Amino acid sequence: VTEPTITRTDRDRVAILTLDTPGRSMNVVDETVLADLRDQFAVLGDDVDAVVLTSGKPGSFGAGADVAWLPELAARDDAADVLSMAHDLALTMARSPRPVVTAVPGPAYGGALELALGGEAIVATPDATLGLPEVTLGLIPGGGGTQLLRRWLVLDDALDVLLSGRPLQAREALDRGLVTRIAPRERLLDDAVELARELVTSGSRRPDRPVPARDGVAVLERHAQAVAARRGGATPPALAILAVVRTGEEQGIEAGFAAETAAFLDLLRSPAAQASLHLFQAGSDLKRRTRRGDRIDALGVIGAGQMGAGIAATAVSRGIGARVRDVSDDALVRARAYVDRVLQRAGDDPAVQRRRYRWSATRAWTGLGHVDVVVEAVFEDPDLKVDVLAEVSRHIAPTALVASNTSAIPIHRLAPAVDRPERFLGMHFFSPVDRMPLVELIPHAATAPETVDRAAAIAGQLGKVPVVVGDTPGFFTSRVYARWLVEGIRLLLDGVPPTAIDEAAVTAGFPVGPLQAHDEATLDLVVQASITQVAEHVMSARIDVPAVRGALETLVAAGVRGRRYGLGFYRYDDDGRRTGINEDVVALVGAAQPDPDVTACAGDRLLLAFATECFLCWDDGTLCHPDDGDVAAVLGIAFPRPLGGPFHWADATGAGEVVARCTALGVREFPPGDTLTSLAASGGRFADAPRRAAPFQPAE
Ligand SMILES: NC(=O)c1ccc[n+]([C@@H]2O[C@H](COP(=O)([O-])OP(=O)(O)OC[C@H]3O[C@@H](n4cnc5c(N)ncnc54)[C@H](O)[C@@H]3O)[C@@H](O)[C@H]2O)c1
Repeated sequence: VTEPTITRTDRDRVAILTLDTPGRSMNVVDETVLADLRDQFAVLGDDVDAVVLTSGKPGSFGAGADVAWLPELAARDDAADVLSMAHDLALTMARSPRPVVTAVPGPAYGGALELALGGEAIVATPDATLGLPEVTLGLIPGGGGTQLLRRWLVLDDALDVLLSGRPLQAREALDRGLVTRIAPRERLLDDAVELARELVTSGSRRPDRPVPARDGVAVLERHAQAVAARRGGATPPALAILAVVRTGEEQGIEAGFAAETAAFLDLLRSPAAQASLHLFQAGSDLKRRTRRGDRIDALGVIGAGQMGAGIAATAVSRGIGARVRDVSDDALVRARAYVDRVLQRAGDDPAVQRRRYRWSATRAWTGLGHVDVVVEAVFEDPDLKVDVLAEVSRHIAPTALVASNTSAIPIHRLAPAVDRPERFLGMHFFSPVDRMPLVELIPHAATAPETVDRAAAIAGQLGKVPVVVGDTPGFFTSRVYARWLVEGIRLLLDGVPPTAIDEAAVTAGFPVGPLQAHDEATLDLVVQASITQVAEHVMSARIDVPAVRGALETLVAAGVRGRRYGLGFYRYDDDGRRTGINEDVVALVGAAQPDPDVTACAGDRLLLAFATECFLCWDDGTLCHPDDGDVAAVLGIAFPRPLGGPFHWADATGAGEVVARCTALGVREFPPGDTLTSLAASGGRFADAPRRAAPFQPAE
């Protein structure tokens, strides 16, 4: 016998149906919930005049469909029947003589909100948020949301909610008509029951089907234009929403449901949605890890440069105290300004603005005794970092966690400097810290498992997704990114015109090409970080790294150094705007004559350079699971999101096909690696790999 998802209690002739998905922190909607609700409505009985639907989970109504269940649904022949259950349930509720009031004590998203949309009214707590975010996952609502929302909202607002995927705060939902009343949490259920009784008495009802908008065509047209004008143009889910809503307006709710089902299943079965569901699922698994450690109250940051200031600003904006130490007054002043900018963006809520007082700065070593964690972010110099970490150890509590934000210095080389090294690990943030969602956690051989959990919790508190990776040169992201940058220079040396290199990258789905990326980072830093610290250690057996270094050094010597200097692979004006290509580069590096066959391979070479480095990271233990690599590649180093990450891309393309493409380009530079090679033979997938407990760590 499975546990019931719905329980019923009656009060004042009102049936209170409480949704409580067993074993989950938030309610999810699936076939079982739909069937249980349908059965509950079938047996309400004569002693009940109204229904209140609510949640057994404190502080939330429901997360929507179970994302892990969607691939299974996609594969089923009777998937359309499952969606019909949701549509039938909504119509049952809408046509029932008994009004249904939903009590929403927090987030109500997707399929969970759709359950409420068949009803008569929603009572929500002030902190509740309601939305249909499916479009952000590459989908559209499939449980009737595209049609039912129009029972509540005018067409313009309904399209806004559907096309943006943005949740409405309770107050905004009240103004627009999606929420009927707001009630404090302790009164939520009482108010919902009271409202249900009022509706019984008044007999007032919203229509069971939406009333078509008189100016519908014009409103739809306006939204279609707005969607087409978005960056990247209208996406398939946005187009599907417009078409399906139009069907409902013109032909009625049943035709709208049928159109919704067809469009939802088409999208769900598309490679783009599978990639995005995969990333969502893999990202959620990583976020779960943030729940194992305690929350922190204050953090120390050593070095208030670009990274240190970003870490401190992110902490302060989230209500965590930051004690910042730098040797330079100028750096501390700039860091303070950074904090102010981030807080400004956080809005003018006085409680948020008061957080600025939780920042303090010092040039001494004072004020670190009470912090829960210290993050070291001084210059990328091993000797300096060793000195700083030793000094840090003298000024902090014995229980405080210690982290280094190094981009590539091996963590096991820094660990001996820390008193009690079991509390030390790498915490690699990305720039700009307040916007980039990823943190790499790098334990060394003696890092305590509890330290990794605490660091993951800190990452979560800072709003970041933590991924645990191995202590190999460049860890995961800096290493893979180095390989991709190197491929950009190799293409240049092979005679591919610079504009063709960056265009090929963008066509393959990268946001910018590798030459533009060199210009942003500055060529000096690429030589120091990507070549010296990473490529020479891990790629020399496969790649002619000296040739790449030689080309970069020649360029730097000739003043070609990147955007900050006004001249890189592109030319820039005084405001840093790109004005054109730097034609001198090709001659400076002595590139080969252009060859159309080589140029035609540029996109594949960039994609496979990136992907094969990832496959090797799995083979050598740098990653605990291919899923981690997919999330880190997309969130940290801009692997094309529609491909779902390098491992998902390989699974979707087929291992055999990927190996063939590596072979065509040359397995020396594009080695498929042991795992992909054996997957090609077995027909298996990276996704089915078992998770490793910990990533590779060299002995200390
Ligand atoms: N910039 C990036 O994109 C990026 C990304 C990830 C990691 N990192 C790493 O983060 C670290 C910091 O990088 P950054 O870009 O912020 O450098 P930065 O040059 O902007 O800042 C370094 C700061 O450290 C200060 N400093 C030097 N010695 C100090 C000491 N003894 N005590 C206190 N402060 C001291 C300097 O005054 C300077 O303000 C480096 O290890 C770097 O590799 C950088």
